[in-house]
Amino acid sequence: MSLIKIGVVGAGTMGSGIAQVAATAGHSVVLVDSFPNALIKGKDSIVKSLNKQVEKGIISKETYDAILSRIEFSEDTNSLQGCGLIIEAIIEALSVKQNLFSQVEKLVSDDCILATNTSSLSVVSIASACVKPERVIGIHFFNPATLMPLVELIPALTTDENILIQTKNIIDSWGKKTVIAKDTPGFIVNRIARPYYGEAIRIYEEGVADIATIDWAMKEIGKFKMGPFELMDFIGNDINFKVTETVFEQFFYDPRYKPSFTQKRLYEAKRYGRKSGRGYYDYSPDAIPSMPTKDIILGEQIFQRIIAMLINEAIDALFLKIATRDDIDLAMTKGVNYSKGLLKWADDLGLQQVLNTLENLQSEYGEDRYRPSPLLKRMVREGKTFY
Ligand code: NAI
Repeated sequence: MSLIKIGVVGAGTMGSGIAQVAATAGHSVVLVDSFPNALIKGKDSIVKSLNKQVEKGIISKETYDAILSRIEFSEDTNSLQGCGLIIEAIIEALSVKQNLFSQVEKLVSDDCILATNTSSLSVVSIASACVKPERVIGIHFFNPATLMPLVELIPALTTDENILIQTKNIIDSWGKKTVIAKDTPGFIVNRIARPYYGEAIRIYEEGVADIATIDWAMKEIGKFKMGPFELMDFIGNDINFKVTETVFEQFFYDPRYKPSFTQKRLYEAKRYGRKSGRGYYDYSPDAIPSMPTKDIILGEQIFQRIIAMLINEAIDALFLKIATRDDIDLAMTKGVNYSKGLLKWADDLGLQQVLNTLENLQSEYGEDRYRPSPLLKRMVREGKTFY
């Protein structure tokens, strides 16, 4: 059986990576972008990434040629004709995405699956622009798409069950780990990971510790690959602030997701992080490195506060049926490289301890931000564990 042709729209960071993944899996791919320069840049990044794989001996020169020859680069949306699956990865703007979907739907056959890689818009709001919204689904890759194994699949309210099954089969065949998430703000990873940034900033704002110490605590005690501030500087404080703001708005201003002034001011000052040379840290060549205070008691306090908030988010996602236990834990280990799934972590720390930390914070601050998930309270009451 021959493989379906894949269309990718948007040749930016995500689109070029997704096109490379699909072509590596053996599909013919057409990568469309309305800006010729973006196509040149997209091709460049694919060539660079494949070259690296040749240098490292991961693929041969013949495989490199074969992968590249399977990708067609086009400025013309009409080249999407004949595709069996189209993944949209253009700018994050609802009306622009809706226009594209209604335009593309007219070009393709009835059985073509239309997918969006959106990270913050609802899938159903995009699907609603189509005559056949039942074939529209969210396929959310992580950056860089070529390296990150996780893909969140998001069936919208209108998505046909068979479309989800077909999509899962295709993405699984690309060697990715798929999880299924409800069409809610941030899906799994971007929802559950919010306190990693938000609570770290709060601790810093209160003057409990400086940024280097908070980063040190999370790496040393929690075995996180990057501390929250290093990670925010890596992602870009412009992107991270926008995601925080969108998630907060989309949760109808639930105080748990409230953005911080620290992050907003950094964004306003254009201190975006690594890419701008300055963020929470200074990346200029003559910068004096910030040294953490390696106080293990303070470190433990910081870690317990952030991990309790993360676990609470994961438990609440399970409580609200955003995803299954296994998918929640898989998502955080494969999507953001946590050393352990948060529900497993909850069991290991003890649910009573997590609840105590949250209740102490809630009584100290009197803020809804620290409210424990009803499921956590219920499980403690019943003496249950997740595994
Ligand atoms: P990007 O800005 O790097 O690329 C977007 C591309 O779309 C540009 O090349 C632009 O020329 C093109 N484009 C814009 N309007 C178009 C149109 N009407 N038709 C054809 N091409 C058009 O953006 P990036 O970062 O690749 O993000 C794309 C999507 O993926 C967004 O929805 C974003 O939320 C999502 N996403 C981004 C992640 C990231 O870490 N950058 C991670 C996961 C999802």
